[in-house]
Amino acid sequence: MSEYKWIDHTYDVVVVGAGGSGLRAALGAAQAGLRTACITKVFPTRSHTVAAQGGIAASLGNMSQDDWRWHMYDTVKGSDWLGDQDAIEYLCRNAPAAVYELEHWGMPFSRTEEGKIYQRAFGGMTKNFGEGPVQRTCAAADRTGHAMLHTLYGQCVKEETEFFIEYFAMDLIMDEEGACRGVTAWKLDDGTLHRFRAQKVVLATGGYGRAFFSCTSAHTCTGDGNAMVLRAGLPLQDMEFVQFHPTGIYGAGCLITEGARGEGGYLTNSEGERFMERYAPSAKDLASRDVVSRAMTMEIREGRGVGEENDHIHLNLNHLPPETLAERLPGISESARIFSGVDVTKEPIPVIPTVHYNMGGIPTNYHGEVLTKANGDPDHVVPGLMAVGEAACVSVHGANRLGSNSLIDLVVFGRAAGLHCGASVDAGATQPEMKDAWTDKHLARLDKMRNASGDQPVAKLRLEMQKAMQGNCAVFRTGDVLREGVEKIDGVFAKLPGIDVSDRTMVWNTDLVEALEFDNLIAQAAVTVNSAANREESRGAHAREDFSDRDDEKWMKHTLAWVDEGGHVTIDYRPTHDYTMSNDIAYIEPKARVY
Ligand code: FUM
Repeated sequence: MSEYKWIDHTYDVVVVGAGGSGLRAALGAAQAGLRTACITKVFPTRSHTVAAQGGIAASLGNMSQDDWRWHMYDTVKGSDWLGDQDAIEYLCRNAPAAVYELEHWGMPFSRTEEGKIYQRAFGGMTKNFGEGPVQRTCAAADRTGHAMLHTLYGQCVKEETEFFIEYFAMDLIMDEEGACRGVTAWKLDDGTLHRFRAQKVVLATGGYGRAFFSCTSAHTCTGDGNAMVLRAGLPLQDMEFVQFHPTGIYGAGCLITEGARGEGGYLTNSEGERFMERYAPSAKDLASRDVVSRAMTMEIREGRGVGEENDHIHLNLNHLPPETLAERLPGISESARIFSGVDVTKEPIPVIPTVHYNMGGIPTNYHGEVLTKANGDPDHVVPGLMAVGEAACVSVHGANRLGSNSLIDLVVFGRAAGLHCGASVDAGATQPEMKDAWTDKHLARLDKMRNASGDQPVAKLRLEMQKAMQGNCAVFRTGDVLREGVEKIDGVFAKLPGIDVSDRTMVWNTDLVEALEFDNLIAQAAVTVNSAANREESRGAHAREDFSDRDDEKWMKHTLAWVDEGGHVTIDYRPTHDYTMSNDIAYIEPKARVY
């Protein structure tokens, strides 16, 4: 290993990832007077949050009366009761303040006639504990993530967060006691290797949509932090819950926001029927995403899909006033033209359920501290390690996330993590000396990948994994199909030692980046498909045709999954939190979930 040299850095807090949650956490830590670094593999404003469209949920009540308790009820119901209600309470009651904070930092929200933040309807968002739709989703046209990311980046620069841009985070630096002491990274443009020592490492590395063949996620969404956690011998939680967004553009995968249905758009089948009226008589096209995606899949399966191969569905917007399309939905009007050749003022958009979001991830409490199950304690805190955003599983989304609850999760829990760092980190405190023994295996992995000279191109194995996940871990699942998926993923895992990385350089070696990302993805694919095969019930996005009911007696619990170097997955469970955070609202008892 002597050819590799570390460049050492010391910070109070290191955040990995510069999307909405990473920037908000970094900002909070910097505001608390802590020396804060943010490491990111792409320029911050290119992080995947930039692609978020429809909006951010908060009960501001700008369009009609609203209440955080109603938002909480909807989120618990949306989660199919798997979400932890103490965390959901924290999310919903802190949401309005988090949105006003963004407004005060200059985020360019769309406005009502009176100049208030504009809010639109989104799936599963209701008034008075499920009575009817409410406009709760605060929007900046259909480019809300873009507006948010630029606002947060500006604030981080103002607070002098130190950015390490185009650094590829490799692994967590864990000491002999199981505490996190920092993180290692490879600087892509000059090939240097870096060790960041910190009192707290905050993982904000997003989801792993790229484990699937068709997804709305950017190519960068490879769940690098999730995989780092697995390699550190820690579990991921609830990985079987993968959200399919009902309206990805057919063939291209790009997102068409749920805001399109929030503004009055609707879905039709080959008979021109508004079929959602049959599946969700009250909420119709604005039922929650798992319900709509299943309904679309059933229509296609029963031969009522549109197109030459009857394999997709139409999203109709052409009845909406052209001014609404231009003012509220300009981005998706452009995407529909570019990616499907459709003029939305005249024709429907061809759409299909597409992988969009991972409800599962790194288990945390609502302060952002990472949890594991150890010595019989299901909520054991891992010292020094935190996680936020899509990488984390707090768990507020449980088995199914409501649209627009993702952006609010980013800023509420990013803020919570910053506050927790402020309260628990001693600025400039002496940290333990870095030991090579903590990072030698990081170099060994890098070296092995860099010198891999087998006969398996990474792109071929990645495609094999993506096809297996798409086909065997889809909207509807059965034990047989999932077990076949486990075998297929095991097969891909077994080929990992035979990969070929033909570029041996360390500078801008995209071949090596892809190999490291694939290594990250395959570990997450393994825990996902195994967790899904194990859960014998249907809940939220996990729809088992062989176990079609929710089974609270047996399955009201979070899955924890570990994977070893050979791809062997171990599964255990921890209880959901059946309590709220305060006395302001009682635990919402499980009941049948109908829309
Ligand atoms: O449909 C959308 O605009 C996506 C929003 C979300 O996933 O929260």
